[in-house]
Amino acid sequence: MSNTVQKNIDYKKYVVSSNLQYFKPHATKIEKTFAEEISSSLNNDSKSIHPKFFYDKKGSDLFEKICSLPEYYPTRTEITILKKLQDDLDSYIDESFRLVELGSGTSVKTRLILDIFTKLQNTTEYFPIDISEILTESSEQLLKDYSGLHITGIIDTYEGGLQFLKNFDDKKNLIIFLGSSFGNFSPNDGYKFLQKINSTMKSGDLFLIGLDLVKDKQILESAYTDSQDVTAEFNLNVLSRINDELDADFYLKNFAHHAIYNEEEQRIEMYLKSLVNQSVIISKSNLLLNLEKDELIHTEYSYKYKLSQIHELLTSTGFEIKHTWLDDNQYFSLTLVSKN
Ligand code: TRP
Repeated sequence: MSNTVQKNIDYKKYVVSSNLQYFKPHATKIEKTFAEEISSSLNNDSKSIHPKFFYDKKGSDLFEKICSLPEYYPTRTEITILKKLQDDLDSYIDESFRLVELGSGTSVKTRLILDIFTKLQNTTEYFPIDISEILTESSEQLLKDYSGLHITGIIDTYEGGLQFLKNFDDKKNLIIFLGSSFGNFSPNDGYKFLQKINSTMKSGDLFLIGLDLVKDKQILESAYTDSQDVTAEFNLNVLSRINDELDADFYLKNFAHHAIYNEEEQRIEMYLKSLVNQSVIISKSNLLLNLEKDELIHTEYSYKYKLSQIHELLTSTGFEIKHTWLDDNQYFSLTLVSKN
């Protein structure tokens, strides 16, 4: 990788090759460390571990495995819908659009959209925004498979990356946010997030969001507690990570994966359940954690939506609905919106 060639606001530009470059913020903001966050989220009556800590190398691999489990319908279903959308999207985008993805684009889903762009354009610009550096790896693979592709990665939070993009140039953007990742936000954070996306969009930009829909409780619960226990392994892996990185002594056999669908709140709630009364030392967080038998540590919510709620949410955060695509079972949705 060659060195800095240009400074853009407070981002540094790294040129890897003629069709791959990326931007990274110059000075990283002062953030709480992993040890500090764990210390404050577990030192509470209601205990939690933030889901962003799931994704170390092992966690990311396990998540990939979850996506192809027979019970985990969202990925498969979203792919089916993206295939339908391939016939329709070209009436919304043209030569002047670039593709912007919130997330690193490791998956087959990015490719389905890139197929549409590269059919329409001689050269296609793809801007993945991701906090992790995995971005450079996934980009190299895409460049091998698509000639005429130019990738500009932005290594930052989604909000930071979008703000950067707003000041970057006047090219039109199709921003995609797939996998129902939005469902992992609390309603309040989600609302603010959509407002933020809206404020960074130019008129003419488009936003495509994939959201999981309310459905039968049994289907939902088995998607988050599969028969091969991969989801359990994924959930429990965050404890191994704390053991390794924060010098802790969680004994994994004393915990169980616990996922339930809360019908009233319309969300899957994922927890780690303590199977015994126990104490755990987390050295680097300076914490002696006492857990009672059956006590729950919250790890993630995954909200499910009704179509009417999706439209209401998007409309109230400043968007205009262009189209919603569904699968035949109405399990999952993709909604395309513009800035109002
Ligand atoms: N956002 C997706 C969902 O909620 C993916 C996901 C995040 C997930 N964490 C998970 C899937 C844990 C299974 C288990 O479905």
